[in-house]
Amino acid sequence: MVFKINTQQSTEAFEIAKQLMPGGVNSPVRAFQSVGIDPIFISHGIGSKIYDIDGNRYIDYILSWGPLIHGHADKDVASALLEAIKKGTSFGLPTLQENKLAQLITTRIPSIEKIRMVNSGTEATMSAIRLARGFTGKNIIVKFEGNYHGHSDHLLVKAGSGIATLGLPDCPGVPLEITKNTISVPYNNIEALSSVFHTYGSEIAAVIVEPFAGNMAGIPADPEFLQTIRLFTSKYGALFILDEVMTGFRIAYHSAQGLYNIQPDLTCLGKIIGGGMPVGAYGGRKEIMNLIAPEGNIYQAGTLSGNPIAMVAGYTTINKLTYDSYNYIEELSDRLIQGLSTVASKSNISLMTTKAGTMIGLSFTDKPLQNFDDARKIDSEMFRHFYVEMLKQGILLPPSQYESIFLSTAHSIHDIDQTINAADIAFQRMSAFL
Ligand SMILES: Cc1ncc(COP(=O)(O)O)c(C=O)c1O
Repeated sequence: MVFKINTQQSTEAFEIAKQLMPGGVNSPVRAFQSVGIDPIFISHGIGSKIYDIDGNRYIDYILSWGPLIHGHADKDVASALLEAIKKGTSFGLPTLQENKLAQLITTRIPSIEKIRMVNSGTEATMSAIRLARGFTGKNIIVKFEGNYHGHSDHLLVKAGSGIATLGLPDCPGVPLEITKNTISVPYNNIEALSSVFHTYGSEIAAVIVEPFAGNMAGIPADPEFLQTIRLFTSKYGALFILDEVMTGFRIAYHSAQGLYNIQPDLTCLGKIIGGGMPVGAYGGRKEIMNLIAPEGNIYQAGTLSGNPIAMVAGYTTINKLTYDSYNYIEELSDRLIQGLSTVASKSNISLMTTKAGTMIGLSFTDKPLQNFDDARKIDSEMFRHFYVEMLKQGILLPPSQYESIFLSTAHSIHDIDQTINAADIAFQRMSAFL
């Protein structure tokens, strides 16, 4: 049933928010700018559904940008949290909850022998880079165009033409002195990577990579590309940092490193390991992790790090993830991309889909995506139309053509079929304008 939604109260709330916060939000993509509409303000969520303050109900494919793999207000996570909160929310001293989550993570991801909890994915990647530089005694960091690793200064460098660009900052406020040691290379491009190692090999501290570029329309890494990173980093004495902030515990039971059968030196985590509470973590081989203070002299600390509430949410979330959970989400993902492809081609819409484990990407293009240059050619106008048509039918997608959509164990086959039906209607309307 197609309905036109009324979002008047959200629009009014946004007007007030804009007076109080830059762009009316606390993180840019929430402003819905790339889809050209005001954001909706959320009142609550249950399972796969989210409700705005005007009372509209949506099937949610944002899921707080990934953490909520069991959907909103999962009853196990909620009751564990309620119990934990009664005992106090933060102590700034060690708790058993930290041991429990650390044990669970190191068991599921064996390359992580020791782990340090932090408060966000940004902190995790920032700290892993400091550690890599401290461990190797080298300065250069290699990253890939279009990969997002949070907003720390030395990683806010993206593309450049040519084989590699010595880091020019993307953002005012980030001094060139800080990014000059960041080299950005095209994603999935083994030749470009090899050329960088050939030229700068002895100065490279680490290569950091997203195994599924979820902030670039969902481009999976080529297995051979990841193996090449492993090969070069080992050969040149650099560290391989796998950024699993998004893919960790989402893409597969043993995360992306299990799916791709690769062994990084350091792994960055976030999102799911906090079960919807603010968390990040980085971990890896003992001999590297032991350099962190107080065991070693590489300083990194946090007032709220290892927060017991966040540890409980993360532990409960991961502990209930079984192989079946991933099989189920993958089944939903397959059904969704197959259904969307069918209805798109019926309306002559070019829709490209990608998939790795449970994660999928959708983009309006007729050329398979390999890297950032391909992603930049996606038709943003098509996405904007699609987005609004889906929202009007109660389907909430991430408000950016570059962001991954997320599914959960709480989504049902009925949710997926409803989404495909809505897309069918959306595509028919869009094709009328083509
Ligand atoms: C791969 C990756 N790394 C790092 C980050 C930064 O995490 P946070 O937003 O928690 O700082 C993100 C956030 O989306 C991410 O997707």
